[in-house]
Amino acid sequence: MFKLPDLPYGYDALQPTISELTMRTHHDKHHAAYVNTTNQILGERGETPSSLEDVIRAAKDKGEQRLFNQSGQAWNHAFFWACMAPQGGRPSGALAEAIAQFGGLDQLKSKFVAEGVGHFASGWVWLIADRSGALKVTSTHDADTALVHEGAPLLVCDLWEHAYYLDYKNDRKGFLEHWFDTVANWSFAEQQLQAAKGQGQAYRYPAPQA
Ligand SMILES: [Fe+2]
Repeated sequence: MFKLPDLPYGYDALQPTISELTMRTHHDKHHAAYVNTTNQILGERGETPSSLEDVIRAAKDKGEQRLFNQSGQAWNHAFFWACMAPQGGRPSGALAEAIAQFGGLDQLKSKFVAEGVGHFASGWVWLIADRSGALKVTSTHDADTALVHEGAPLLVCDLWEHAYYLDYKNDRKGFLEHWFDTVANWSFAEQQLQAAKGQGQAYRYPAPQA
């Protein structure tokens, strides 16, 4: 069944933006629970799907909310870990060109932070690319995932309080600003953009194991 993917860096690697305690709690408790519950639901049904992406899309199509929530959260968190890096860097190449449509990185940051701050309650704030390669900032509620909506996800930040409350208390804006400036993984976002244009493979959750 589906495995909880390891973080692509150490638990303390994103400090001071995100503390080791937050990363340990978020990955080992929250994310693990979503993966375990997804496996439990599939196990009870005797199902052995070939990918988590298939599980999420089928659950959405059939209106299976519990499975959709658990599998969506399993995917969103794995994608979120990939969207961060200890040295996030700066956008370059085709991604930098696409970001110019907003006026530049500072303007994209303002839009991304405003979307995240304005999002009521739990969810996710996304940077996505539409079919033409144009970028958009959007947000989804609870476990909903850009995977099942129009456009290709390039970057996401977690808006659930468990993502920032230990470090920032109720200051979601401060969290999003620091996150965007320091740990957003722009080379990953660029790979995702290239994949959306047919060059290379988009992110996929690790395949299930027997
Ligand atoms: Fe989370």
